[in-house]
Amino acid sequence: MTKVITIANNKGGVGKTMQAYQLATHLAHKGNKVLAIDLDSQANLSSTLGVDVRRTLIPEWLIGDVDAEDVICPSEGKYDFHKNLDVIPASRHLANLAKLLILSEAEVRKTAGRKERLLKMRIEKLANKYDYIVIDTPPMLGDELIMALVASTRVLIPTQAQDYSIDGLEELMDTFEIIKESENPSLDFNIIPSMVNMRRKLEKQRLEELSQSFSVSAGVRNLVDMQESISAKKPVFMMGKNSKGKQDYANLWTSLGLN
Ligand SMILES: Nc1ncnc2c1ncn2[C@@H]1O[C@H](COP(=O)(O)OP(=O)(O)OP(=O)(O)O)[C@@H](O)[C@H]1O
Ligand SMILES: [Mg+2]
Repeated sequence: MTKVITIANNKGGVGKTMQAYQLATHLAHKGNKVLAIDLDSQANLSSTLGVDVRRTLIPEWLIGDVDAEDVICPSEGKYDFHKNLDVIPASRHLANLAKLLILSEAEVRKTAGRKERLLKMRIEKLANKYDYIVIDTPPMLGDELIMALVASTRVLIPTQAQDYSIDGLEELMDTFEIIKESENPSLDFNIIPSMVNMRRKLEKQRLEELSQSFSVSAGVRNLVDMQESISAKKPVFMMGKNSKGKQDYANLWTSLGLN
């Protein structure tokens, strides 16, 4: 069974795309067949995986106007793992998704019942061609995020220090609970501290408070390594053994059983 992992947080700039990139490349490097789906019209994940399209066909794929073969592209880069890693790229046109879904409402109702189920249906049609699907989502609680949550087996929620409060996560957790109850009872989640600076006492304290309510995994520190990884399009696992980013992510994937 294909495992579908969504990286989500309606807050912007918390490290979602970073995590999606590191996870998709790590899993491909381990020999898994991986599909990365970029549901953010900023298309940062697509470009880091070497794919730039003028116009994404994600809306047409969701509605059923085009087949998966028309939206899936091979990832591109100089490393071996790229052969195991495909991408469904985004472009700024994805911002029109909500409008398109309204225009195709009758069609959507006929095929999926509810628009929330569209992505899940399309993924099921891929018929276990992939071991893992990793989905990057935009920083808002919109159609893209909801569809991804309905289609997923697991959600990873990168969270930054200022949001280490139940209040900050409340909106996202409410949505998560609704989807769990209505569409996807087996959905699992982990909160992952992102860009951590443990020397800040307040940060440590807030993290401890958060751990009392939720399952919080090992975090990833705020590191220059990480920014270099994106600009060089080189995943952290390819960096030298002294790379702190490499260590943090290795620990994280082990603690989540994603080896
Ligand atoms: N662990 C880290 N250490 C240092 N910088 C990081 C780390 N993780 C991410 N960054 C940097 O922080 C910025 C935001 O990260 P990223 O783009 O992954 O966030 P995002 O949640 O996807 O943002 P958006 O909500 O806009 O999609 C980027 O410049 C990224 O390189
Ligand atoms: Mg992003």
